[in-house]
Amino acid sequence: MLDRWIPFDVERSVISPATALSEGDVQLWFSSLEQPSYIVGQLEATLDAEEQNRVRDSALKDEKARFVVGRGLLRKLLGSYLEVDPSDLHFQYDTRGKPSLGGEHGTQRIQFTVSHSREYVIYAFALHRRIGVDMELILPIQSEEIASRFFSNQERAALQAVPKHKRQELFFKIWTAKEAYLKASGGDLASTLQTPILEMDAGMGTCSVRFNENRNSDYHWSLEQLKPISGVIVSLVVEGSRYRLAGWRVFCEMLGNTLNKVDGC
Ligand SMILES: CC(C)(COP(=O)(O)OP(=O)(O)OC[C@H]1O[C@@H](n2cnc3c(N)ncnc32)[C@H](O)[C@@H]1OP(=O)(O)O)[C@@H](O)C(=O)NCCC(=O)NCCS
Repeated sequence: MLDRWIPFDVERSVISPATALSEGDVQLWFSSLEQPSYIVGQLEATLDAEEQNRVRDSALKDEKARFVVGRGLLRKLLGSYLEVDPSDLHFQYDTRGKPSLGGEHGTQRIQFTVSHSREYVIYAFALHRRIGVDMELILPIQSEEIASRFFSNQERAALQAVPKHKRQELFFKIWTAKEAYLKASGGDLASTLQTPILEMDAGMGTCSVRFNENRNSDYHWSLEQLKPISGVIVSLVVEGSRYRLAGWRVFCEMLGNTLNKVDGC
């Protein structure tokens, strides 16, 4: 379990040995999507024509900027890992919308996964292993109604068993774990929902969620649950169990040295 986040300056250090991605590493990057316009402009210049069309087609100014920062940072991080110009990268999508690297970098061993929630984005990178990340802000929602549609009986019972003040958080732990598993496994929603991949420690009053390891004889999946900042839940699903997890926050100074760091760093 990752219990601390290391503030990190992408611009100066991403290519340093400290962040080079080795076999067995799983690296997380967390950032705000709200950046000053000159940074948005610099990141926009790295997008390809298709991405720039998507920006032009977006009706909302804030959404445009968030898309640019989210995609621009992904390009920047992948470019740094692969030591190529971020604008040379090309993304392709499978039939379910899962992105991967195409073109001349498509054969790279690097795997990545992305999640955004409101003004935040999180990325995970690994070599040769499937990964999926999902992030949600813990907000008041009709959790029981949603759980009745998407959660198993066991998961719904666990939700009912925890004290009311812990219910919302447990709901998002289960939800993000399922979404992260969906992204990592590449499966469809129906099989993810039908498969009782999680079991809870609700009896003890704790809100932990974990995989039922006995079920997966062919594959072993690991689940990490993190709170990069207060009020935000992240689930990371990793293929296998032997890996080293490290996480960084992206500073605002990544493209210029005059800014304060991202809130919460
Ligand atoms: C694919 C899906 C998991 C994305 O999750 P989301 O919470 O909507 O959005 P996130 O920000 O977390 O993730 C979006 C990113 O995931 C990636 N993504 C999209 N489809 C994907 C897929 N099938 N597999 C893996 N990654 C995918 C993309 O990188 C995307 O970012 P981009 O739009 O900038 O390219 C979601 O669209 C989906 O279908 N969810 C199922 C909904 C549901 O009912 N879940 C019940 C769980 S209990």
